[in-house]
Amino acid sequence: MPLITWNESLSVNIEEFDGHHKKIIKLLNGLFDAVAVKKGISVIQPTVAELIDYTRYHFAAEESFLEKHSFPWINSHKHEHDELSSKVLEFQKQLSEGKAMVDLALLNFLKDWLTRHIMGSDKKYSSFIKEKGKS
Ligand SMILES: [Fe+2]
Ligand SMILES: [Fe+2]
Repeated sequence: MPLITWNESLSVNIEEFDGHHKKIIKLLNGLFDAVAVKKGISVIQPTVAELIDYTRYHFAAEESFLEKHSFPWINSHKHEHDELSSKVLEFQKQLSEGKAMVDLALLNFLKDWLTRHIMGSDKKYSSFIKEKGKS
C-alpha cells in the first residue's frame, strides 16, 4: 500500500499544481517503497535528492503564480515552504554525513506536512483565484 494516495479532496482546481502534487506524492511513495524494502543509502540518497529538487521546483512555481495574482497571504505561504525546505535540507546534510536515515517517522512527517499544506494553504489560493475569477 502506498504511503499516500492522491484523491479529489486534495485538488486545488488548478491542473498544473494538481499535477505537481501528484508527482510529489509519487516521489514520496517511491521513497517509502525504497525504505520498506530496506534499500541502501546508494538508492535512498538520489531518491531523496529527486524529491527535494522537484519540491523546490513546485514551491518556486507556486510562489511566482501567487505573486502574479497578488495573493494577499503570499508571505505566510512562502514561509511555510521555506520552513519545510530548511528542515529537509538539514536532514539531507545529515543523511550525506551518515548521521541520519529515512525512517517511518520522517515519512509520516512529510506525509502529514504535505496533506496539511495542500488542504490548508494551497486550497486557500485556489479559493482566492476562484473568487477573483468571479469579479
Ligand atoms: Fe503545493
Ligand atoms: Fe504551497
